[in-house]
Amino acid sequence: MFRDLTFRAQWCEAIIKSSEDAIISKTLDGVVSSWNIKAQNLFGYSEEEIVGRPITLLFPERLKNEETQILQKIYRGESISHFDTIRLHKNGTPIDVSVTISPIRNEEGGVIGISTIIRDIAERKRAEREISRLSAERLALLNARTAELHMTEERLEQRTQELRATLRRLASAERKKSEEERKRLSQELHDEIGQMLTALNFNLEIARRKIQSPDSASALEVAIQISEEIVKSVRHIMYQLRPPQLDEFGLISALRWHIDHLKHSSPLHIILHDKLGKKRLSPDLEMTCFRIVQESITNILRHASATQADIHVMLNASLLDLHIRDDGVGFEAPPDSENSFPAGHFGLRGMRERVIAMNGRFSIVSAPGRGCVIEISIPKDVEQGDHLW
Ligand SMILES: Nc1ncnc2c1ncn2[C@@H]1O[C@H](COP(=O)(O)OP(=O)(O)OP(=O)(O)O)[C@@H](O)[C@H]1O
Ligand SMILES: [Mg+2]
Repeated sequence: MFRDLTFRAQWCEAIIKSSEDAIISKTLDGVVSSWNIKAQNLFGYSEEEIVGRPITLLFPERLKNEETQILQKIYRGESISHFDTIRLHKNGTPIDVSVTISPIRNEEGGVIGISTIIRDIAERKRAEREISRLSAERLALLNARTAELHMTEERLEQRTQELRATLRRLASAERKKSEEERKRLSQELHDEIGQMLTALNFNLEIARRKIQSPDSASALEVAIQISEEIVKSVRHIMYQLRPPQLDEFGLISALRWHIDHLKHSSPLHIILHDKLGKKRLSPDLEMTCFRIVQESITNILRHASATQADIHVMLNASLLDLHIRDDGVGFEAPPDSENSFPAGHFGLRGMRERVIAMNGRFSIVSAPGRGCVIEISIPKDVEQGDHLW
């Protein structure tokens, strides 16, 4: 085929022969016209077997239309560089190859044939496949580990929630017990000591009327005063333990009593904005609200340096809203979460727990220099026994 070659043609032939790549030429309609040793080694066909036959012999069935596209490009005078594809060995085995195709031109520049250089890239493809298999394995492993981690996290979260609920229940039960104990003490003070002191006073009064001696009369006078003081103190302790108004007349009455009582000992101006009136709530709800106001006012007196506190009690179809606002120094309010209250301070935490135990909402709106508002909203029809204190 290369008879009468010029030096240049001989040089080309030498390159083609010694090339590590398969070098094939074909006619413009895709028929093989030359075939080097490497092509023979790669595809298993000898030059005699393949020359004159269509190049599509090397194409797997599903890639046969590649040839049409290749020819169209070549007709347009374009080349195709390093195009990864698959060709078939004579025995039908697929081979990964990289193909570079370019037009062969005559001296006038017209396209007279097609040159195809085919490189065996099986090794590279194997490495690529191995890399993607390993990556897929690692990804699958990572996904499995992440899923495991999520599950562990979920289990831990669930356990934490369970423990929190148990803690809430225990704290609630503790509060209920303490409230009952306070009630019992208050009643005992009233029924036992209160009655006895009243009887003592009464008898001292009778004795005073009957005694003639001025010295004895003045001693008795002192005794009567002491006894009256004791009665007042006992009553005060009794009310602090559990204001009887709460059980007898309801929340507003108990709050009024509490506010009146504070008037004598503090310059804080407390205003009760009452939209509840004489309406009664469940005993638990009344007690919760009373204790929250009590602790809020104690906080205002202790920490706020406020001049005024406003207590709003509002009732709508389903909720009891309680807002306690002060115009004091304010503070960096903790975010609403069970663990965000400072250690060793129990007032705000206790308020929140009481409200959450009654399925209510609790929030603190405060910032330094901007006063503080405690906002509470509790379903008013919480079934008795639905919750503990
Ligand atoms: N109305 C308020 N104005 C300004 N700071 C407040 C107010 N209420 C609470 N604080 C701040 O929040 C902190 C926590 O209040 P909390 O009632 O939980 O605990 P405490 O009053 O310090 O102690 P206790 O356990 O006796 O109630 C207070 O120490 C105070 O710094
Ligand atoms: Mg407090």
